[in-house]
Amino acid sequence: MSRSDPTVLSVPSASYEADPSSVRRVLLLYSGGLDTSVMLKWIQDAYGAEVVCLTVNLGQPGEDYAVIEGKALRLGARESHVVDAREEFAREYLARAIKSNAIYGSGYPLFTALGRPLIAKLAVAQARASGCDTIAHGCTGKGNDQVRIEATIATLAPELKVIAPVRTWQMGRDEEIAYAREHGIPVKGGTETAPYSIDDNLWGRSSEGRWIEDLSHAPENDVFSLVTRPQEAPDEPQTIALTFERGVPVALDGERVELVELIERVTAIGARHGVGIVDHIEDRIVGLKVRDIYEAPAAAIILPAHEELERLVCTIHQNQFKPALDRQWAYLVYAGLWWEPLRSDIDSYADEVNARVSGTVGVQLYKGCAQVVTRESENAVYDARLASFAESGGLFSQSSSPGFIELFSLQSRLAWRLRNER
Ligand code: ARG
Repeated sequence: MSRSDPTVLSVPSASYEADPSSVRRVLLLYSGGLDTSVMLKWIQDAYGAEVVCLTVNLGQPGEDYAVIEGKALRLGARESHVVDAREEFAREYLARAIKSNAIYGSGYPLFTALGRPLIAKLAVAQARASGCDTIAHGCTGKGNDQVRIEATIATLAPELKVIAPVRTWQMGRDEEIAYAREHGIPVKGGTETAPYSIDDNLWGRSSEGRWIEDLSHAPENDVFSLVTRPQEAPDEPQTIALTFERGVPVALDGERVELVELIERVTAIGARHGVGIVDHIEDRIVGLKVRDIYEAPAAAIILPAHEELERLVCTIHQNQFKPALDRQWAYLVYAGLWWEPLRSDIDSYADEVNARVSGTVGVQLYKGCAQVVTRESENAVYDARLASFAESGGLFSQSSSPGFIELFSLQSRLAWRLRNER
């Protein structure tokens, strides 16, 4: 393949897309999988460019980063870097998601969406440090991830260009495997059936493709690699205590643990009890409707616990208002607009509210369910004496209730009369 072959190299349609003739040194976001391994060779061939690889550890389980690094160098990368970003991911991204009770649609806790802006930010830093002019990623032209990564790069580094080979190279899976064999790229496992398309990190795991695309097909067992199927989960329930400070979980069963480790531990406990499976139909930002199977046990436990505590320390008015902001926050993050000022504006409000979200919540886990069973907080806007049915007194006088009801219902009563009396 010759340099700047117009049939395979993309013709720029956006300002940040690379002009093939000026691509010299490329920072490739490398996972070690088939797509990005083929890409590592293909960029060297098609662009005649040097490649520097970056792999970001966001807590995806079972990854051997030394193996990935070695593979990159063997396939011709000039440099290969692995960044452990788990702590930053937890502190700057997941803690905010927790304070905003972040769920998109009817159940997606946004783990991939939260990871992409951080991965792209780290790619920008590494590209600058390694003297690259272009960043390459392995996203397709149909998903949300291209939006998240490219919007981040274009925002943070207007001087860098982007290439997305999967969008342009027109290789299907079979052609990729043939290309890999031809170029000495190891292809692991059976190649007959396409695998699920997986993305995972500390906060959850998603699977797409194969039978998942058939909406009438119920989940098959082999898709679940994190969470025990609820029917096989222990017959005994388990209750865990999550302690929050200023909206962020800081202790599990009374023991203080750093956020990364706390999430890992809650993931393991929840997974054992079958908690966190979501079979989700999703409205992608690029217009498609797609089905995902999610396994996100930590999110399925921590988010409801946080929300419960937040409701307890907030007034009725705050509780009416915040879900609308939470929803907007989740939408912005889903849509790849992490760097949009409205997102940090909403964070400021969430921080303000969460300054009082401290206390402990007990969550019972049993065969796929996570249920809040106890809560305590010194900031609770709750007075057991006032809430009980006992005699009135103090701040609450039952004899004031009829007057309240008369005035509170006044406009509604007048309007009803107008509509129902001639
Ligand atoms: N639907 C989710 C999102 O847009 C997850 C996508 C993960 N990618 C994958 N190849 N499974 O954030």
